[in-house]
Amino acid sequence: MTNNYDVAFQKSINDPDGFWGEAAENCHWYKRWDKVLDDSKTPFYRWFKGGEINSCYNALDFHIDKGKGEQLALIYDSPVTDTIQTYTFNQLRDQVAKFAGLLASQGVSKGDRVLVYMPMIAESAIAILACARIGAIHSVVFGGFAAKELAVRIDDAKPKVIVSASCGIEVARVIPYKPLLDEAINMSSNKPEKCIVFQRPQEKAEMVSGRDIDWAEGIESASPHECIPLLATDPLYILYTSGTTGTPKGVVRDNGGHVVALKWSMKGVYNVDPGDVYWAASDIGWVVGHSYIIYAPLFQGCTTVLFEGKPVGTPDAGVFWRVISDHKVKTLFTAPTAFRAIKREDPRGNLVKNYDLSNFRSLFLAGERTDPDTLKWAEEMLKVPVIDHWWQTETGWSIAANCMGLYHFKVKEGSPTKPAPGWNLQVVDSSTKPCKPGEIGALVVKLPLPPGSLPTLWNNDEGYQNTYLKEFPGYYKTADAGFIDEDGYVFVMSRTDDIINVAGHRLSTGAMEEILTDHPEVAEAAVLGVDDKLKGQVPVGFLVLNAGVSRDHAEIVKEVIQMVRDRIGPVASFKTATVVQRLPKTRSGKILRGTIQKIANSQEYKTPATIDDPAILGEIKDALIDIGYAGGK
Ligand code: COA
Ligand code: AMP
Repeated sequence: MTNNYDVAFQKSINDPDGFWGEAAENCHWYKRWDKVLDDSKTPFYRWFKGGEINSCYNALDFHIDKGKGEQLALIYDSPVTDTIQTYTFNQLRDQVAKFAGLLASQGVSKGDRVLVYMPMIAESAIAILACARIGAIHSVVFGGFAAKELAVRIDDAKPKVIVSASCGIEVARVIPYKPLLDEAINMSSNKPEKCIVFQRPQEKAEMVSGRDIDWAEGIESASPHECIPLLATDPLYILYTSGTTGTPKGVVRDNGGHVVALKWSMKGVYNVDPGDVYWAASDIGWVVGHSYIIYAPLFQGCTTVLFEGKPVGTPDAGVFWRVISDHKVKTLFTAPTAFRAIKREDPRGNLVKNYDLSNFRSLFLAGERTDPDTLKWAEEMLKVPVIDHWWQTETGWSIAANCMGLYHFKVKEGSPTKPAPGWNLQVVDSSTKPCKPGEIGALVVKLPLPPGSLPTLWNNDEGYQNTYLKEFPGYYKTADAGFIDEDGYVFVMSRTDDIINVAGHRLSTGAMEEILTDHPEVAEAAVLGVDDKLKGQVPVGFLVLNAGVSRDHAEIVKEVIQMVRDRIGPVASFKTATVVQRLPKTRSGKILRGTIQKIANSQEYKTPATIDDPAILGEIKDALIDIGYAGGK
């Protein structure tokens, strides 16, 4: 059977120039591209070479030019401060233009980096779009990271200016951001010239004279700045994400391909039209926030909701329904963990009944596989299609989805449905030979990747090739394992590296292990992602102490937990560790993480033939039972 999805998918693979060239016609260009897909420097493919574009123009001014200036562009809804503030396209453009003027007055120009370390307030979107307006490359750092992580990003991106706010609000707790920022700047070897700080009424930040500028004061004297034409291939932003070590990878996004792919996805994947209200309940610090709180909905001329709150506790598990009802949200995009949190508080969905959800059409989930329980519960409560879709920071938009604007496939539990147009997804074995339908292998994408995905890593072409392109020549390695079934449905089973997903946040267990072994009394450490009913996975640490350490183990555990919190941040959710005599290893010395993980999750496991001493598995099981895992809860 042929349907719109099959037609679009085939065209995107067989005629990428035709497919994406057509999509690009819906965007604003100062100058048309010379070539849709430039493959002259493989494996570095570039989209819309020679074209000139501005992402901020496409997000704001373009709609104003078409007479939509008085339509709502952004709704800031903050239950934690009891605020709802709306911005029309005109209002948002004016504020963005002024902030762009302020940045320019501080010497920021095309290609300069601006680091944004901010909570979920409208000013964050304003700062981001202002960078795009003048061609400055923004690098947003999630607020839940500690000073050390921020410092690493400052050193890599070398921002001229940092934009921040006095505080974030976590449910009822005020989290001062400025002391963290000052500490990070102290630690880093690349000091920004200026910091622009938005003072929130909940906390007044102390300013460093000569360096720090008060947002409100700065904006007063700033002149609005126009959008400047940029090359389609110029970088729009850098977003750092966890790699396999403590050093994060700077994923680069360009301007042209990003505008085209994201705008296409709004109709193709999410089936939303200009004027619809779209809400991604994520954080601007993550890729979902970049793509679907800020850029894509605005490219499409939708109203986007920027929500400063949590699915539960702000004030209750009905807040998502309240926001959907108040703002007539058509599409919600969040992580399954948010729904698990709501379900835990309101299993019967009593709060859903209090709200008018008549405008609501579909729920999209990503960040981790949607578990069947959550899928069924959400379908039952909301009575709309619940769509699992799979993507990564690197890809910028979904690799696989039920593309609602093309064709609504029957949902198969545990599957994000089919590869989205542009994604030539394959399953291969370790020698890059195709796997049969249903057979698990590495999920890889035949090059070129579609527009919107990363062209490289920041200042690190070699790292890009080594990380993503080397292992399977001709393909992009997603580092996810899975299979495609007889019907072409994709199943994403697990990561093939040490990345874990904790409450939809991507973390590296390798980075945590590096911190644990920094403790003077720890000789060796392993960190694993263990199943968690709410967060999907949580990290659990195993410590082998140096010979002769006689101190209370509980003290040492407390110290390493604090070290991870201080160096990575609260977002790591590293709250459990235990001391063991030794770690199970292969004869060649590799820690058997997979086996420990299975024991912790009370799954069946086989004693690996390569293990050096099988008795250790029993010791590990006992240690896990003591801390509430391996059936010990
Ligand atoms: N600034 C400062 N601290 C932050 C923060 C921020 N922006 N975001 C999270 N934190 C802190 C939290 O306060 C918490 O601190 P604690 O250990 O002192 O309690 C810690 O980091 C862990 O946060 P989180 O994993 O979010 O757990 P939680 O218990 O606060 O909330 C959920 C659990 C499920 C409600 C929450 O994770 C959620 O809403 N997730 C949605 C997922 C999401 O947005 N994913 C993005 C991809 S779509
Ligand atoms: P991030 O870069 O934070 O978006 O995390 C990307 C990783 O999250 C992917 O490589 C997957 O391991 C996982 N992931 C995201 N969405 C899904 C999904 N729908 N199903 C399964 N895994 C997912």
